[in-house]
Amino acid sequence: MIYLDNAATTFPKPETVYTKMDTFYRTLGANPGRSGHKMAVAAEKEIEDTRAVVAQLFGIQDPRRLIFTFNATDAINMGIKGLLKQGDHVITTYLEHNAVSRALYKLEKRNIITVSKVNNSQDGFVDPDDIKNTIIPGTRLIVMTHVPNALGTIQPIREIGKIARENDIVFMLDAAQTAGVCELDVNAYFIDMLAFTGHKGPLGPTGTGGLFVGERVTLDSWREGGTGFEPTSLSQPEELPFKLESGTPNTVGIAGMRAGIEYVLLEGISKIRAHEQRLTDKLIQAIGNDDRFILYGTKESNKRVGILSINVEGFKPYEIGAILDQSFGIAVRPGLHCAPFAHQKMGTFPDGTVRISPGYFNTEEDIDQLIAALYKIVSERI
Ligand SMILES: Cc1ncc(COP(=O)(O)O)c(C=O)c1O
Repeated sequence: MIYLDNAATTFPKPETVYTKMDTFYRTLGANPGRSGHKMAVAAEKEIEDTRAVVAQLFGIQDPRRLIFTFNATDAINMGIKGLLKQGDHVITTYLEHNAVSRALYKLEKRNIITVSKVNNSQDGFVDPDDIKNTIIPGTRLIVMTHVPNALGTIQPIREIGKIARENDIVFMLDAAQTAGVCELDVNAYFIDMLAFTGHKGPLGPTGTGGLFVGERVTLDSWREGGTGFEPTSLSQPEELPFKLESGTPNTVGIAGMRAGIEYVLLEGISKIRAHEQRLTDKLIQAIGNDDRFILYGTKESNKRVGILSINVEGFKPYEIGAILDQSFGIAVRPGLHCAPFAHQKMGTFPDGTVRISPGYFNTEEDIDQLIAALYKIVSERI
């Protein structure tokens, strides 16, 4: 099997992730921060050490402002629903994953907030000036993706973050596709909230992720419960991370995510991104000038990550996905990628595209085999 679906989740993981999780669960599988015995204390230390490692990945100065969640969706919901109040106006884009679009829509439908969606260019970029021109007196939040998962185009977040800061608006970034793949710094990019998932670029297991909550933001807790201290108080503690982290965490997952991020930091984010870009560029060069293939998003290498959406003349995306899987043993993702508005804007709704997303463990030979398979499909129409 050639796995080219790393934008859905990275596979395989570094060997250190598997061994770390196995060893951790066999030796330190106690409930962290609860019982006070040695194993519980060691489990708690693993979580706090991981918090510091994640903080390093995003340039977060105070690790306590990093909240562990179960994925990016969890983090996005926590940020959006914990922040917004009656009458707030929100700016977002058409390029969002449903994690953002649906969370906003729920509040909009209940007449709690109003939402403006900013357009994007045909090659997949939002213009910061369009964001600026959409600001109104009640705008409380700008929330958007760093890289749309259907397109792979890197958005101008520094400029947008600056606009948000100058207008005293909260800037929330969905970094689900870029954590561990692009250099990220919450201060340099004026990010007030950053949501990420552990199972993609950070190379960790599913069921992990997090939300950075900057100093300009106070969130309502979105679930209440045990935090391991002050059990007699009926109120949720105000202190971060406890305010937003009730219940037993995914300790083994967090330990695995730490191993994944440590691997990323050791290899180097720029090296990982360069590898993924090189593989995508190879594919673009091979099929980009052939009319039988339609490519979406910019072809400019430095403006994209290793995600490419294509369509093949005469085939539905799901047909290409199925043929690649069943006849060639190649895994890609056809369809709408939980981003229906992005596909509407690309003109690929409702069938979507075939998304090809190489990862760090893919090789040039994997791409050669994909290219050969695609040409065989179009020439022999199998
Ligand atoms: C841009 C973007 N945002 C959010 C998510 C949701 O991530 P998760 O499923 O890990 O919550 C994804 C997942 O594909 C994504 O690509």
